[in-house]
Amino acid sequence: MKPVKIGLCGLGTVSSGTFNVVARNQRDINARAGCDIIITHVGARRDNPACDLSGVQVSRDIFDVARNPEVDILVELIGGTTVAKELVLEAISNGKHVVTANKALIAEHGNEIFAKAKAAGVTVAFEAAVAGGIPIIKAIREGLAANRIEWLAGIINGTGNFILTEMRDKGRAFDDVLKEAQALGYAEADPTFDVEGIDAAHKLVILASIAFGMPLQFDKVFTEGITKISAEDVAYAQELGYRIKHLGIAKREGDSVELRVHPTLIPQKRLIANVDGVMNAVLVKGDAVGPTLYYGAGAGAEPTASAVIADIVDLARTLTADPEHRVPHLGFQPGELSSPTVRDIREIETAYFVRMSALDKPGVLSTITQILSEAGVSIEALIQKEQPENIDTAPIILLTNRAVEQHLLNALEKIQALPTVVGEVTHIRVESLS
Ligand code: HSE
Repeated sequence: MKPVKIGLCGLGTVSSGTFNVVARNQRDINARAGCDIIITHVGARRDNPACDLSGVQVSRDIFDVARNPEVDILVELIGGTTVAKELVLEAISNGKHVVTANKALIAEHGNEIFAKAKAAGVTVAFEAAVAGGIPIIKAIREGLAANRIEWLAGIINGTGNFILTEMRDKGRAFDDVLKEAQALGYAEADPTFDVEGIDAAHKLVILASIAFGMPLQFDKVFTEGITKISAEDVAYAQELGYRIKHLGIAKREGDSVELRVHPTLIPQKRLIANVDGVMNAVLVKGDAVGPTLYYGAGAGAEPTASAVIADIVDLARTLTADPEHRVPHLGFQPGELSSPTVRDIREIETAYFVRMSALDKPGVLSTITQILSEAGVSIEALIQKEQPENIDTAPIILLTNRAVEQHLLNALEKIQALPTVVGEVTHIRVESLS
């Protein structure tokens, strides 16, 4: 069999992982692919001391790799959405298959890229874009192909989970843990993508498109990060039997879907509540199989390389199939932008953890509970701690039953306006994930 020649663009963390795993496991990888897989070309502005590039044709212009007729598969690992998009489109128009770990690129420009790939009869594979080393795209697209996917929920940002875990277990400061995540190569080039939930939103929209067969609609994802989670929230949640995790949730509700990324209280007894550090986990509920859970490292050089190389091996196998079967079926027609519609966050229904600080006076609590009850929000549990004599405010923590978000927001607006309520009233969504 003819060897499959790979052009690797970018020589950062994931590239060096890919380069080194291919070198280390060459024999097994070739055996699984049924042919030799060789990284023949590298496009990068500078070398990386972690990669031995002897025998590889190195170009300082990445577009040389996209145009080189010898390259069969271009692996895009430069990140970003401008040059990366041009590079991928150039590779496609030159008849090359593409493997990418770039979630922002797929989430924001995937519809256009897939349409061009389909027209050119080439494949764009993106397993490494979601949940690092976990083969979650393959699991949903192939392993669960028999199912109607009802919902999925995942911890899909390793950096965010690492920060929340270190804060909870070791009481470390947010900024200090973030710096460590950057040093370990977990964080995005712009770490606000991690902590503000944008990276998770990119991944969620990709998962939803595979699970529900819908076009990518990144702009419709409700996105909230972890920056507002306080040590108090974590402690009170624990007291109520919950853990706070940053989740991406995609749920089918009739003809529409919910796409949301936000901190979420999860019952402590759920396996996913105990997924800590940089690890990711995705729960997928199919109508035939029931709930399934996928767990593994969500970021880092070699875990992500594992997914990149799996795509290369898959592609190498399909290169022997007839062209008609090379483009994997996405479940939607590239370019299609129809149903299902994405629900506004105010229409969703879930339970809530609400925290506020109020003056320690008679009648305050009953006013608050009355406002909630008038809005149709019922209370499941309540904590009000006695405060020392010299402090005139007291924290009030409420756990509600399921309610429509708009109803809760109506109540919170009224509660926030009460002269007896001090500071911001915060709320975190709660999911039982059962
Ligand atoms: N910054 C990402 C994360 C990298 O922390 O999950 C993997 O996509």
